[in-house]
Amino acid sequence: MGKSNLELKAEANNYPSLQLTDRHLCDLELVINGGFDPLNGFMSQRDYDTVVSNMRLSDGSLWPMPITLDVDDKFISKISKSAKIALRDKEGFILAVLNIEDIWKPDLEMEAESVFGTKDIKHPGVRYLLKTSKKNYIGGKVDKILNPRHYDYQNLRHNPAELISIFKNKKWSKVIAFQTRNPLHKAHFELTMRAMEDLNANLLIHPVVGMTKPGDVNHHTRTRCYNHIMNEYPEDSAFLSLLPLAMRMGGPKEALLHAIIRKNYGCTHLIVGRDHAGPGLNSNNEPFYGPYEAQDLLKKYQHEIGIKMVPFKFMVFVPKSGKYKAIDDVVKSEEYKTLSGTELRQILDEGREIPEWFTFKSVADELELSNPALSKRGLTIFFTGLSGSGKSTLANGLATKFLEEGSRPVTLLDGDLVRTHLSSELGFSKEDRSINIKRIGYVASEITKNRGIAICAPIAPYEEDRAYNRRLISNEGGYIEIFVNTPLQKCEERDSKGLYALAREGKIKKFTGISDPYEEPTNAEIVINSSGENPEKLVNAIYDKIVDMGYIVRVK
Ligand code: PPS
Repeated sequence: MGKSNLELKAEANNYPSLQLTDRHLCDLELVINGGFDPLNGFMSQRDYDTVVSNMRLSDGSLWPMPITLDVDDKFISKISKSAKIALRDKEGFILAVLNIEDIWKPDLEMEAESVFGTKDIKHPGVRYLLKTSKKNYIGGKVDKILNPRHYDYQNLRHNPAELISIFKNKKWSKVIAFQTRNPLHKAHFELTMRAMEDLNANLLIHPVVGMTKPGDVNHHTRTRCYNHIMNEYPEDSAFLSLLPLAMRMGGPKEALLHAIIRKNYGCTHLIVGRDHAGPGLNSNNEPFYGPYEAQDLLKKYQHEIGIKMVPFKFMVFVPKSGKYKAIDDVVKSEEYKTLSGTELRQILDEGREIPEWFTFKSVADELELSNPALSKRGLTIFFTGLSGSGKSTLANGLATKFLEEGSRPVTLLDGDLVRTHLSSELGFSKEDRSINIKRIGYVASEITKNRGIAICAPIAPYEEDRAYNRRLISNEGGYIEIFVNTPLQKCEERDSKGLYALAREGKIKKFTGISDPYEEPTNAEIVINSSGENPEKLVNAIYDKIVDMGYIVRVK
């Protein structure tokens, strides 16, 4: 007889512990609930090698992408004598024990090229692999102790066995899965209705609520939207369940993964539309995969997986008939309408109403509530520039202008203020500066999320740290980088704190601009040179630009 959970847990307390990342948590949940069947753990090196080279586990079963446990070198040195690891969630609860089979250093670039067909970090899956993933993998079977906890939408979360039994009780023998990471609109509704009618089947709306593409609508807003749209389907025709998957945005290969998962969840069909699990555009502004490449790949493997693909073309609205049509069915003379994600974001940014032909009113209200117009959204203004360039003066001035305007609370995170209150233990090495800038980014992202204005004014000499903050904060609201491009000579002439003189004498080491680098921003929204103009004029000019961008309502 196997060990009880209590015994496993008591033993696990003695094993080295790994705190799981968001990606690990999603993967582990699908391993232990059977969504990733036949996987029974994180991949061993043998499985990894065969999956990367030819999309098969070492026993020959089809599996399109690696599911791996990545850890850093420090952790590897901690586990040299252990055979098992306790896998913990962020609160420290032990969810499972991993029985170590292999530890190895993967060739991540080769993995990116083989799995995603590119090393371009504009691909979110590649970016994760090359920039976020740790450099060692540990493979092995996992023994479950606890299901990962979820406090939200508990009634909408099901494991495969639960969904299969729900379908059985409902006597649904044909179930079409609809995979999505976006809010559902009328085009999706039409398409899913049509699929049900054509196949005389039922529908599972199965949205991903684990990790999706950075910048996507958050899963709370989406789930409220899904709940609304469920009311539009005929009674007992469709069911909503949330899937804790971490997407890799792997296009065609991800479509195979989605099909395997849906088969495990008891579905007989999967809808695959245009650009399924598409990662967006590459560095040359071209799509990574062809629009119907995912359909082609799934067509090839659907029999082996045991699920039927329901291919769908792009749906468009034809105003004359007031109906949706597949783009291929639109005749030449017929007028039709579509709304891209970018156009929808623009409507929300400007606080305009989403057109009724595009989405249900209940969904539109939900989206408008969680994405208010730019003038009501949180905002970070990030000044960067050399010491003495005028960042603090301009930041202070701008903060006062915002206080005068009064639409949101304002927080000033000036370089010196931060170094006193948040980063007093840090020095000026590259690592310390990086930690300092990321701390500022974190606080600013929280302020932005809560719809305030954060004004930051550190030197922030490294592009990588600024880019990190830009990504983090843009997920929560507005982000405006202001490069205070005052020439070094002018900053040095001013030398208001006397630090340049000390730096020239070598009494301050690693001084930015003198003995340490400053990487000039190339994509700042605003560039200012504070040498000539008086600060009031400069602050007014910056403020006017922010008004032009739509973040402040223009006073007529
Ligand atoms: S960083 O690189 O962004 O973390 O720097 P920051 O926190 O903005 O620096 C704040 C102030 O520290 C003073 N100072 C130095 N600056 C640059 N290099 C070195 N080595 C250094 N040592 C001390 C400097 O006065 C910075 O202030 P500002 O407000 O930019 O003039």
